[in-house]
Amino acid sequence: MKKEILFSKRDIDMRVRELAEEISRDYEGKELIMIGVLKGAFIFMSDLIRNLRIPCTVDFARLASYGAGAASTGKIIVAKDIETSIRDKDILIVEDIVDTGLTLAFFVDWLKERNPRSLKVCAFLDKRLKRKVIFEADYVGFTINDGFVVGYGLDFNEQYRFLPDVYVVND
Ligand code: IMP
Ligand code: MG
Repeated sequence: MKKEILFSKRDIDMRVRELAEEISRDYEGKELIMIGVLKGAFIFMSDLIRNLRIPCTVDFARLASYGAGAASTGKIIVAKDIETSIRDKDILIVEDIVDTGLTLAFFVDWLKERNPRSLKVCAFLDKRLKRKVIFEADYVGFTINDGFVVGYGLDFNEQYRFLPDVYVVND
């Protein structure tokens, strides 16, 4: 598999620090709970929280879409739910990438039913051209065009998550 570097560790570190600063300002004095979407978001989320200037707690969910392969089929299931009560709390979902938007649109609705005080989404990457539903993340690391990316938590068949930089795959 051939791959080309898209964002270096240095680009990523700088952008994550900016996002953490923005989030720190927006959530000052609030009771922030960050909810990471497994597995892809685990590296992004850990870098993000280490750069925050405010306290937060964390929880995780694992979502899956039926059908194998790179593209989601549209039917999302919650394979592992969060364990924290989010009623009246300020919730920030942290995800690796928004593609069709189906996964996050589903998960936002899923959590809204529990009446959080606020609910926003922070995505490391946003592939805007591929949306199948209207969905806007509140915080975005980088916007990218079409193309499959790996590294910094993102995988291709479970491989390449460990890479510190982000690469675009050219089959
Ligand atoms: P969506 O429901 O189409 O927005 O899909 C989002 C999920 O698909 C992400 O959480 C990723 O797990 C996966 N995904 C979409 N595009 C990529 C990519 O380029 N690289 C790695 N995973 C991707
Ligand atoms: Mg994911």
